[in-house]
Amino acid sequence: MANAQAAADEAARLREQLDSWNYQYHVLDQPSVPDAEYDRCMQQLRALEAQYPALCTPDSPTQRVGATPLSQFAQVQHEMPMLSLDNAFSAEDLRDFNRRLLDRLGWAPDEALEYACEPKLDGIAVSLLYRDGQLQRGATRGDGTTGEDITHNVRTVASVPLRLRGSGFPALLEVRGEIYLPRAGFEQLNEEARERGEKTFVNPRNAAAGSLRQLDARITARRPLQMCCYSVGLYQGGEMPARHSDILQRLHTWGLRINAESRVVKGIAACEDYYEALAQRRATLPYDIDGIVYKVNDLQLQQRLGFVSRAPRWAIARKFPAQEEMTRLLAVEFQVGRTGAITPVARLEPVFVGGVTVSNATLHNADEVERLDVRIGDTVIVRRAGDVIPQVVAVVPEQRPDNAQPVRFPDSCPVCGSVVERAADEAVLRCMGGLVCQAQQKAAIRHFVSRRAMDVDGLGDKLVDQLVDQGLVRTVADLYTLPREAWLGLERMGAKSVDNVLAALEQSKATTLQRFIYALGIREVGESTAGNLARHFGSWEALAAASEEALLAVPDVGPVVADHLRQFLDSADSLSVVQALRNAGVHWPDLEVRPAEALPLAGETWVVTGKLESLGRSEAKTLLESLGARVAGSVSAKTAMVVAGPGAGSKLGKATELNIPVIDEAALLTLLRRHGAMP
Ligand code: IVH
Repeated sequence: MANAQAAADEAARLREQLDSWNYQYHVLDQPSVPDAEYDRCMQQLRALEAQYPALCTPDSPTQRVGATPLSQFAQVQHEMPMLSLDNAFSAEDLRDFNRRLLDRLGWAPDEALEYACEPKLDGIAVSLLYRDGQLQRGATRGDGTTGEDITHNVRTVASVPLRLRGSGFPALLEVRGEIYLPRAGFEQLNEEARERGEKTFVNPRNAAAGSLRQLDARITARRPLQMCCYSVGLYQGGEMPARHSDILQRLHTWGLRINAESRVVKGIAACEDYYEALAQRRATLPYDIDGIVYKVNDLQLQQRLGFVSRAPRWAIARKFPAQEEMTRLLAVEFQVGRTGAITPVARLEPVFVGGVTVSNATLHNADEVERLDVRIGDTVIVRRAGDVIPQVVAVVPEQRPDNAQPVRFPDSCPVCGSVVERAADEAVLRCMGGLVCQAQQKAAIRHFVSRRAMDVDGLGDKLVDQLVDQGLVRTVADLYTLPREAWLGLERMGAKSVDNVLAALEQSKATTLQRFIYALGIREVGESTAGNLARHFGSWEALAAASEEALLAVPDVGPVVADHLRQFLDSADSLSVVQALRNAGVHWPDLEVRPAEALPLAGETWVVTGKLESLGRSEAKTLLESLGARVAGSVSAKTAMVVAGPGAGSKLGKATELNIPVIDEAALLTLLRRHGAMP
């Protein structure tokens, strides 16, 4: 900064900006900028205040931890303040942190401190107060000293024990941790909001905050929130271990959830290894994390190190690259999918988010565009978390330029010019061109050759584009009859590549009925429904002849799927493609159809609980049903078996209580394979 006056002006500007964002975020539950942007401004302000200490007023946003509590909730005073953490944005920052600690403790620079490493969950910090093992109060952090009483809501969170298990806990015990919404729950919540035409949540943390700040706990109860504990606050009338990691283990034995990824390591290099390893797996974790928290494990050392105003000296959060960033919306284009659905796609000024450069993001459908009120030229917030495709989650209204243009949806298909329609009960526009539409032809072929369908190697997107654009292939059946010379005429297709594709096509002809049904790309018929249809009918002929009623008898087939199936099976065009495929030599073995009572799990009631890593609960349910089991939502004396994945809660407890056999996902997979429900 050139001079003190300029610095003062800049600090005032930053303060005002941060205050306004803070209010929107914490009081209104409406974040207006990505966290990364907030952090950057905060860093700038801190730097200025460090350089000119006179600028550091008591009301500066750097001097407080959180936000004003909402007035409708009773206030709670935290006897022991709930602090926040200092951030490290690089490996260098982390090394500095370690150096400072060694220095303060009077240790040699190469000595190795023991650190507890934990994922930094992206949720809401809460305090749970247990008196004689009974949950007495749940509170938010608020500004660190005064929080909100959310006992009624916290009690609905399945992983919050209402009474502690075991024994030996202090008479008064305050447990602290994070309540968050796992990613799958977040996606589901937003999907439901979209279906109802309601506003969606920007991210899982925002959704968790919204869920916890409900005056009506019944709403909270419907949200699949989870609690994970990371420390102990106040305690009286009892002893606690002398190492942080042992405290967590102790909490675990009392029935509280702790994070399974936590590790104790020695030395700062091992801390970095932990960071790298978790950064690699970040996208595959079932919940959002925004960094790693490192804590000095020895409580005596923690005490010697002490606190600065708002954070402990003995802990730091190393942040991951942000999953949300701001950028500009340059244009909106429209893509036509396999079933004709027209999806608006945002073309963005490239931005680095979630570890990659993003220049396209989905806008889902017309309703979403309307809800976001997004215009071309707007500054938008883009989110890319996990392996979910990037999305535009919000607009920054203050930054809308005067010439921002509304998004106009096409009245004819942007690819084939056919009419577009919007079914009364649907949010999506569809091109009615069917197989006339080249976009739909391409998408159908890409799906048909994909690995889990007919598995034709070497037929990539570029090649499919050429085949369709040159009019060589219109339907999937044409792939098998296209002469060798035609393949040779395509770009980048030498004799060797052509032979490979032809061999792959030849090989794909020997398939299974399930793959074949799936490969046809009938609306709403995914892999597992295709499997159920194949096992239920045993042959294509039996499926093709099935009445609507017969279709409805198949596990997982409801009126909507039955209707799509009938439409496909009644269409002369579709049937002629199927016939052409069979004429070309596509074949499969018919399956033996067993009457329901002869199925291996007939008459048994199963319960699936917790997270299943490879299958997912709904697929597990479908597969179990295909073997004749009934899958129920609760455990009773009549339950034959419980499948429990990580995070299984009360259902698992009930099963143990009633002596009902429990298996894990691996055992389930073995069983499904043994009975032929899975390849
Ligand atoms: S320890 C005295 N551990 O991060 C230290 N915090 O910026 C207090 N958080 O308010 C926090 N995961 O909401 C700690 N494993 C973890 C955490 C964690 C997430 C959140 C927490 C806290 C914020 C600090």
